[in-house]
Amino acid sequence: MCGIIGYIGDKKASEVILEGIKALEYRGYDSVGIAVIGEDGKIIIKKDRGMLDEVSKKVDFLEMDGTLGIGHTRWATHGPPSFENAHPHTDCEGKVVLVHNGVIENYLELREELMAKGHKFSSETDSEIVAHFIEEYRKNSENFEAFRKAINRLKGSYAIVCIIEGEKKLFLARRNSPLIVGFGKGEMFCASDFTPMLKYTKKFVPMDEEEIAVVEKDGARFFNLRGNERKKKTIEIKWSAEEAERGGYPHYMAKEIEEQKYSIKESFMVDVRKAGELVKKYEKIDVIAAGTSHHAGLMLKYLFQKELKKKVDVVIASEYRYVALPDKETLVIAISQSGETADTLQAIKFAKKHGAKILAITNVVGSSITRIADETLYMNAGPEIGVAATKTFTSQLAVVYKLAFPERDFSYVADDVAGLIEKIREKAEEISRKLKFAKSVFFIGRGICMPIAYEGALKFKEISYIHGEAYAGGELKHGPLSLIEKGVPVIALVQKDETYEKMIGSIKEVKARGAYVVAITDSEEIGNIVDDAIVVECKEKLLYPFYFIIPLQLIAYYTSVERGINPDKPRNLAKSVTVE
Ligand code: F6R
Repeated sequence: MCGIIGYIGDKKASEVILEGIKALEYRGYDSVGIAVIGEDGKIIIKKDRGMLDEVSKKVDFLEMDGTLGIGHTRWATHGPPSFENAHPHTDCEGKVVLVHNGVIENYLELREELMAKGHKFSSETDSEIVAHFIEEYRKNSENFEAFRKAINRLKGSYAIVCIIEGEKKLFLARRNSPLIVGFGKGEMFCASDFTPMLKYTKKFVPMDEEEIAVVEKDGARFFNLRGNERKKKTIEIKWSAEEAERGGYPHYMAKEIEEQKYSIKESFMVDVRKAGELVKKYEKIDVIAAGTSHHAGLMLKYLFQKELKKKVDVVIASEYRYVALPDKETLVIAISQSGETADTLQAIKFAKKHGAKILAITNVVGSSITRIADETLYMNAGPEIGVAATKTFTSQLAVVYKLAFPERDFSYVADDVAGLIEKIREKAEEISRKLKFAKSVFFIGRGICMPIAYEGALKFKEISYIHGEAYAGGELKHGPLSLIEKGVPVIALVQKDETYEKMIGSIKEVKARGAYVVAITDSEEIGNIVDDAIVVECKEKLLYPFYFIIPLQLIAYYTSVERGINPDKPRNLAKSVTVE
């Protein structure tokens, strides 16, 4: 995820954009850049690696005069943070300049095509190819057509803002990455979210999927990818700037739960070819991770063992040194959202010392884990601000699924998730109101949903401050059942697979002792034997985890809010735990 912004009007563009980038920094902060069309019609670019404050000390953005410009704050996906990879990117001659947020899935093949035509690239990014394609099409078409044709070549996700030498226009395109046009008086804006524009206007048009726009000082025109014009209505936004930073959501966690409709898609696009080769070569696989990432590791184990018949051990990072036996026959898969968790880093250093090969799965480009690992898979979820992992968990799952089934396309799950959140939100809130006075909540599951029960319990306890514990349904009778009495909440994950009958048995055991049972299920019938049910529709049994974790995230979130806690900043916890 990155933040992008554009301005055209009478103000000094670099000033408006600089301020805007600050507001968008939550979307990415490993490099910054601005391009402005100067008075002579030529484009000037200033950019560098680092956070805005750092870069601003080295680069004087405000030196750039001009009233039309674009800006970018980057969250690296293709190519590590560096001057070259920082946006804006240009064509060979520096006449087409653009910023991009998203992932161009077919960029390798497009890059080869352009190289064969003699284009020279200055960065490793997927974004740069778009500028070169526009350059290519400009040979025979006017600028709008060239832009439209280039956009039609792209697969994957994009929000693009482009400027072209000699044109007093911003060219915009959007697919699966947000882009909003802001309407001022004699000035126009566009950005990844409303925040940087609210100071100037309250009137907006959020762009639709597969849409192109041409923005001039006095207005904007919108088109589909075939170039047919569309009429659009402006909407009015009344948020404060602070609310807008969170996209109008009361908490980052709420926003990040919703963002899963984008992030899951991005993560399913990750190129796993090299990592897949590595996995094929090794018979012994150890997964190392902590907390939520450990639960993603348990999912990896389930998929690899049950579906691929490949044996996997999953070890809690801080325990690895004491129990594991890594050697040169071992492939270690280290999962860490931040890439900075000290327990995980120490564990992989230990494994490496014993000759193991390290494959890292992380969200943060250039993080410490990537420097130790032999191979890294980036999950491309975009920055996660809320301490409780939500979208990075489902992105970890997506990468793990892709690694297990590289040929399959599961990306439709992301759209299902969007619908699911809306469908079950109210019910999740209602259940949270019943849970908020509980002393302890039990989560039970079996089979493919067992890691999800663990994750549900962790999410719940860390932000509600109510004890939550997960057990395999079959384990109840071996101890925990003695804790069940009238009114004790039990959240049961009941999927219609080989574990179904057994789960019903577990529910009956706790019901008989007076438990208040909530089922998360794809079975309509369960409603008759439990107190509350959230029914989810799941098209493939293999994908239950994606559908079952969403209600658990929402229940945790709303319970926290009901109890007056800020779920973004639970006490005693930090987003990245850099001490052992
Ligand atoms: C829980 C949570 C933590 C992290 C754990 C590992 O919501 O976020 O349990 O999963 O601290 O962090 P990473 O994945 O950064 O190694």
